[in-house]
Amino acid sequence: SSEDTLTVNFLNRDGETLTATTKEGESLLEVVIRHRLNIDGFGACEGTLACSTCHVIFDQKVFDQLDPISSDEMDMLDLAFGLTDMSRLGCQVCMNKSLDGMTVRVPKDISDVRQDVEMAKQN
Ligand code: FES
Repeated sequence: SSEDTLTVNFLNRDGETLTATTKEGESLLEVVIRHRLNIDGFGACEGTLACSTCHVIFDQKVFDQLDPISSDEMDMLDLAFGLTDMSRLGCQVCMNKSLDGMTVRVPKDISDVRQDVEMAKQN
């Protein structure tokens, strides 16, 4: 039912906000894939914790409500460009009601640890 429908906004690199519907339990990566959101390079490893291209940044208030970070996610996040205190990997963050309507920011630079950080060198 529509009661179960949640929304999430992605503030993309170009400043455009992409709004997508989602539901409890869906990861941010799954949202991006299912809606085919145009976020370049996002989720390159398909959620296997091998790339860090799904790096997203939260508002403090939202960040504090997220499930605790696993050590595997932490290890991969450490390799992300533009890491902040409110960074997480989108393939590891799943939607729930308290996150409904949140906005997450897509950082300007991404690194795919499997591809020797080409994006960073071009900037
Ligand atoms: Fe690769 Fe999240 S999609 S670490």
